[in-house]
Amino acid sequence: MLKAVILIGGPQKGTRFRPLSLDTPKPLFPLAGLPLIQHHIAACAKLEECKEILIIGSYPTTVMTQFVADMQKEYRLIIRYLYEFMPLGTGGGLYHFRDQVRAGNPTGFFLLNGDVCADFPLKKLWKFHDEKPDGLVTIMGTEATRQQSVYYGCMVRETNTNAVTHYVEKPNSYVSTLINCGVYVCSLQVFQVMAEAFQRKQDRFYSANGHGGPEYMSWEQDVLSQLAGTHKLYALQVTNWWSQVKTAGSAIYANRHYLELHQNKSSDAPCKILPDVFIHPTAIVHSTAVIGPNVSIGAGVTIKAGVRIKESIVLNNATVHEHSLVMYSVVGQDSSVGEWSRVEGTPSDPDPNKPFAKMDNTPLFNNDGRLNPSVTILGAGVTVPAERILLNSIVLPHKQLNRSYKNEIIL
Ligand code: GDD
Ligand code: GTP
Repeated sequence: MLKAVILIGGPQKGTRFRPLSLDTPKPLFPLAGLPLIQHHIAACAKLEECKEILIIGSYPTTVMTQFVADMQKEYRLIIRYLYEFMPLGTGGGLYHFRDQVRAGNPTGFFLLNGDVCADFPLKKLWKFHDEKPDGLVTIMGTEATRQQSVYYGCMVRETNTNAVTHYVEKPNSYVSTLINCGVYVCSLQVFQVMAEAFQRKQDRFYSANGHGGPEYMSWEQDVLSQLAGTHKLYALQVTNWWSQVKTAGSAIYANRHYLELHQNKSSDAPCKILPDVFIHPTAIVHSTAVIGPNVSIGAGVTIKAGVRIKESIVLNNATVHEHSLVMYSVVGQDSSVGEWSRVEGTPSDPDPNKPFAKMDNTPLFNNDGRLNPSVTILGAGVTVPAERILLNSIVLPHKQLNRSYKNEIIL
């Protein structure tokens, strides 16, 4: 029997995802019509041996209850949300709930960062891990460019054995282009290593005022770095599609790949569709609208005549009025885009000319204090009047706009 643990952090995290995460917690943000971490759950459910999924985070339990109930019903697995009373770090939460992970004596468990999206090759990872009797952790690794690698966990490994000899989390200077995808397979014995790391942290905390609280532990720095060079840590390099989901721009990118992966091609399309597109069955779409590629339309959305939408996500109950255009944007729940208006953002895809390039998680502002052009975001309940242009802007929830905006944050 196998289990899976998904780390989702809490309301303090995902700041770069605002204002999208103001109404929906980031782990539940829909990509290709499914909440972000439902893609993780679906990947785990495909593995017959995987019987239980534990979601660990510090979002209030009430936020997660409905989702967990829905997932249990849909996938017929044991799925539980374990509430972390304070953010304990990527390793602290896992260690705190170690008894829940060990219960039933699984052969091993997957550990998945909730903020990545991928074509998760879990079966392949498990097989690789299972063939390394001394291995405690296998990391799914991928190639990055030299410049971007430093924003991730970087690993050096022995080419013949795939054992990780050196692991540095977000190094200050170049270490390796093999990066950590935040997807792991672990053996239960890893908890012994964590117990030692925890003890060291406690000793340090009580002897010299450590930071972060005595229970705080970083999986990457306190566990993976320690395991490197001991032949207990391995890396499997994969070429499957993989990305982080940090910014709204990366949500549009992830949406495209999940749509492609799930081949969301509505057979009874209500209008002209350029694949791939997801349209929720409850959405009302006029036959003269043209939608796609890379568009997800949520529940209860209304799309009126002559509308053109591409490379965008339209969230539940939004209305896009006649002849308006939405491109490289996220339209929030209950928002409304007026007739003949144009809501447009700038794509922030990985550089297609650089092999292995990942998304640049560009900061909101550049060095001159100006907003970096990116995806346009309408928060929940925003009204864009008729005949206006909104370009590369972020609108906070419940704003009624009365003019056009370009490169602005509308507070
Ligand atoms: N439960 C819980 N508690 N989860 C947490 C906590 C916490 O205190 N802190 C972070 N997480 C979750 C986040 O929600 C996210 O899903 C995951 O753990 C990773 O956390 P980050 O701290 O945001 O790390 P990162 O994404 O910058 O880097 C990690 O992922 C990269 C791949 O995406 C590292 O593992 C890197 O080495 C790796 O390359
Ligand atoms: P992610 O997309 O989840 O990585 O968000 P981010 O990179 O914008 O978050 P980051 O880790 O940079 O933290 C965002 C804000 O949350 C910062 O102001 C941090 O100081 C704060 N923060 C991060 N971790 C914690 C925590 O454990 N406790 C508290 N109280 N604040 C935290």
